[in-house]
Amino acid sequence: MRDPRNRVVKVRRFGSPDGLEVVDAPLPTAGWGEVRVRVLASSVQYTDVLIRRHLYPQTAARRLPFVLGYDVVGEIDQLGDGVRGFQVGDRVADLTVVGSNAAYRTLRADRLARVPAGLDAAEAATLILSWTTAYQLLHRAAWVQRGQRVLVHGAAGAVGQALLALGRLAGLELWGTAHGANAALIRELGATPIDYQREDFTRVLPGGFDVVFDGIGEEGYRRSFTALKRGGLLCAYGYSAGVQAQRGMLTMLMWIARLYLWRWLPGGKRARFYSINVMRARHPAWFREDLERLFGLLATRAIQPRVAERISFDKVAEAHRRLEAGGLEGKLVLCPDLPSRRDRMPPQREPGPASQTDT
Ligand SMILES: NC(=O)c1ccc[n+]([C@@H]2O[C@H](COP(=O)([O-])OP(=O)(O)OC[C@H]3O[C@@H](n4cnc5c(N)ncnc54)[C@H](OP(=O)(O)O)[C@@H]3O)[C@@H](O)[C@H]2O)c1
Repeated sequence: MRDPRNRVVKVRRFGSPDGLEVVDAPLPTAGWGEVRVRVLASSVQYTDVLIRRHLYPQTAARRLPFVLGYDVVGEIDQLGDGVRGFQVGDRVADLTVVGSNAAYRTLRADRLARVPAGLDAAEAATLILSWTTAYQLLHRAAWVQRGQRVLVHGAAGAVGQALLALGRLAGLELWGTAHGANAALIRELGATPIDYQREDFTRVLPGGFDVVFDGIGEEGYRRSFTALKRGGLLCAYGYSAGVQAQRGMLTMLMWIARLYLWRWLPGGKRARFYSINVMRARHPAWFREDLERLFGLLATRAIQPRVAERISFDKVAEAHRRLEAGGLEGKLVLCPDLPSRRDRMPPQREPGPASQTDT
């Protein structure tokens, strides 16, 4: 059994991945109403890049250093006072925004979702942010109807793939913008690919789309709004294009505010911004219900999330670089049980006089 030793990924400096550091940390103790988990899996995703670059409104007020890690699947190894309904050994999941790129952490018991026995921890972790976002965009924000024509931007990305897979289950007719190299993947997911470098998505469907999901925000979402039919709905949920163009957080917040003014334009089109955290704050029961539904779909293999690689602590900074470079076909998931370089190194000998055998 592994030593109960804690290790965490800290942001020391905002900016490049060089500002990340893997350090030993004290083992936390579960307080009142909390459990402690041994972390089995915690995804590393584009939103962590935003947090690291200090471009994420929800963590803008955080003081350095702090521990990264937006989601967690873990096994309870300690119960705090006042916790009912959970036992040591139960597998649980939560969306934590920060703090889960760790070997151990504490969590509030009243926020936990249960992870069914037999699920792969890394696959389960991919569902917590990316797939719950996709599920809620479809069924809680856009309330899609079977047969609707829907455009998904960034369709080869983590949320994009989930939107296509869940959209197909919901009986939608789907198009997905992606790099040309990802056309086969988009087709495999049941959608018509649109190469965002060569094709103009506003001209693909002359009548316009019923719904557009946009986590990229090219031109401040303007073209996505243009691509809607009369009465159509734009659900924006990210601004990767602004980040790539080195825009400041204020500019991106203005893009989001402007979406709500467009509803006054002629044509009856609507636009809104979805945030998983805002929706969870308003409807906490939905979050648990939706995530547990996704765990159920995974258990029957009705959905098959892609894990690009399970990584050790050593590879988290490299994972951030890979996310920024793009081109990944699945998620990178930190699995603290995987040995790090440090674990593989032979124990250091105490310095002292060289013995005969050293020569
Ligand atoms: N609001 C919320 O609650 C919420 C929740 C989750 C995620 N998000 C946000 O949503 C965004 C996407 O997240 P993710 O985890 O899916 O990221 P991801 O895995 O990095 O996927 C982004 C995808 O977009 C593609 N792309 C880049 N530029 C594009 C363009 N101009 N047109 C079409 N596709 C383009 C990339 O493809 P290439 O590889 O070709 O570059 C990549 O496949 C991020 O900004 C994230 O922070 C928001």
